[in-house]
Amino acid sequence: MKRHFLTLWDLSSEEINRLLKRAMDMKSGIDASKCPLIGKSIGLLFGKASTRTRVSFEVGIYQLGAHSVYLTPNEIQLGRGETTADTARTLSRYLDAVVVRTFGHNLLEEFASHSSMLVINGLSDLHHPCQALADLMTILEKKGRLKDVRVAYIGDGNNVANSLIEAASRMEMNLTVACPEGYEPDSEVFEKAKASAKSEIIILRDPKEAAGRADVIYTDVWVSMGQEKEAEEKIKRLKDYQINSKLLSCAKKDVTVLHCLPAHRGEEITDEIMDGPHSAVFDQAENRLHVQKSLLEMLVV
Ligand code: CP
Ligand code: NVA
Repeated sequence: MKRHFLTLWDLSSEEINRLLKRAMDMKSGIDASKCPLIGKSIGLLFGKASTRTRVSFEVGIYQLGAHSVYLTPNEIQLGRGETTADTARTLSRYLDAVVVRTFGHNLLEEFASHSSMLVINGLSDLHHPCQALADLMTILEKKGRLKDVRVAYIGDGNNVANSLIEAASRMEMNLTVACPEGYEPDSEVFEKAKASAKSEIIILRDPKEAAGRADVIYTDVWVSMGQEKEAEEKIKRLKDYQINSKLLSCAKKDVTVLHCLPAHRGEEITDEIMDGPHSAVFDQAENRLHVQKSLLEMLVV
């Protein structure tokens, strides 16, 4: 069966280390003129909005010497009822790989099971593994290591949190998730990651307790794509989980603040923190490009 990249478990920790090292070399310009994917074609099938994932993949594919084809479900026959399986079978006859951004993770798995080309998860409701690779690279850049680093994810236990949990388990980082009751990360993802972790992965309620011990504080939007109907309730329930200067005053002096972006400034994070000295959010956004190029070089053959 074809090897896909749908969750962090699809790469070993040794492969992630290698991928991050290569991404850092790429960022510093080593082998910048190398075009390992010349002659390849890579699809981007996006059923949700995107700034970073779309542009970083398109630019990265170009820089590796390959060609990208941007597709949306409504512009191809998928939106008119062609099945997921038939779409995957057909696209596999033209493309060497496809990045898929969709809602249900089961749809992505179904697509991948009928695909003879590489499928990369560009975000589903359950996982965002490309984001987690960029998160790891940014933590490595800022803290000089991954093992034993303490990360506090504060806010909604969503797709980004789920992939961060898997990343922590894989790379021996300590991760504390602080969230209100009912907004925990996916329980299956959490239990599996915890069971195989050599580091500490815990969920608690108090954002100050999580922030106080952290080397890195991470947050994401409270209302993810597709959750617009629950927005009012979620914003109300998560209001004490904002990353602001009061919370940062409980944190270590050299704490790094991450956010996968897009941010809803004034909700999960304030302007003063987003634009302040602890924030590494735009380095993190840039790193999407480097880790994804490294991932494509590793997996597209
Ligand atoms: N972080 C991230 O995936 O951003 P986009 O939704 O803009 O792609
Ligand atoms: N949790 C957010 C991440 C966006 C990159 C969402 O799914 O909308």
